[in-house]
Amino acid sequence: MNGSNDAVSPSSTSDYLLLAIETSCDETSVAVVRNGREILSNVISSQIETHKQFGGVVPEIASRKHVESITIILEEALREAGVGLPDIDGVAVTQGPGLIGALLVGVVAAKSLALALDVPLIGTHHIAGHIYANHLVGDIVYPAIALVVSGGHTEIVLLEEEGKFRIIGRTRDDAVGEAYDKVARALQFPYPGGPYVDKLAQEATEEIVLPRSWLEPDSYDFSFSGLKSAVLSEINRSRMKGETPDFSALARGFQQSVIDVVTGKAIRAAKEFGAHQMLLCGGVAANRGLRERLSSLCEEAGLPLLIPPNKLCTDNAAMIAAAADLKWRRGQFSTLDLKAEPILSLEDWSV
Ligand code: KG4
Ligand code: ZN
Repeated sequence: MNGSNDAVSPSSTSDYLLLAIETSCDETSVAVVRNGREILSNVISSQIETHKQFGGVVPEIASRKHVESITIILEEALREAGVGLPDIDGVAVTQGPGLIGALLVGVVAAKSLALALDVPLIGTHHIAGHIYANHLVGDIVYPAIALVVSGGHTEIVLLEEEGKFRIIGRTRDDAVGEAYDKVARALQFPYPGGPYVDKLAQEATEEIVLPRSWLEPDSYDFSFSGLKSAVLSEINRSRMKGETPDFSALARGFQQSVIDVVTGKAIRAAKEFGAHQMLLCGGVAANRGLRERLSSLCEEAGLPLLIPPNKLCTDNAAMIAAAADLKWRRGQFSTLDLKAEPILSLEDWSV
């Protein structure tokens, strides 16, 4: 891995405090986590209000906002945790994947802190963070299957053992969250529209049944662009007939299709790979319908399921500390030439 140095050992084997920074997209977040699992603070400053007017994240604005907030959020995280900088034993930061300008702000801040405090630096993979958010809420039993559903990623990841990531399926086009946001826009909701579509789908009394994109019978990959187009053409068809489109029946149809496919594939993967646990993570894991369906399918299959609370599903720095802890405990630290990587392999980041 770029900027890694396996030769150093952890400075302490007893209690340790990791300070983590996450700036990969539109949340500036800093957390202080004890022993990789106990959250002392997890301060998140969202830029949603700024990006809303543009209907999506504007990368250049995101970077500037991170620059404006990072020091304030850092101070707040330390204050909330009741610790000072000299108490910090290691600094973790999202190295990638993400928006390059946004990542850079966190990486530069983390390197400066690690250098000034003379403590180890750990460049961390954003998706490993989403997955290990589960370690903040319970013990992970291996082998485990992680269903990662976020605004930028949709993946089924096999963890044969701790910190070893193998991607067995991924989206071939839109990420689930991206599809939610695009459909939400067509249903006239503001960005990010996932939670609005979720709510409307829950309240719907009718459902317009939409296609399921299963792809090849043995595939764990996903495709959501056809489903998104199906929603758009339903809206157009109604309007051309002079009718008002039934947004709630469409939201329900869209959500049911997404949930059937993502849960169906995740359960099949768990069976095929003999998983002892299912992990749900990423921003879309906040979806009520998805949580409920996956819970009942896992119960039927006798498969224990972990789902982080909503605050740990969307982007936050505590999850970055939880993933960085994998490297901390193995003394796998980064060097100060660590670079922000907009594209970064999860499998290569394995311990
Ligand atoms: O993980 P995340 O915070 O950012 C990325 O790393 O991408 O995920 C954000 C995504 C957005 O697309 C948002 O619309 C979606 O998660 N989301 C939801 C819900 N809450 C957030 N999608 C569906 N239902 C929800 N309740
Ligand atoms: Zn994320």
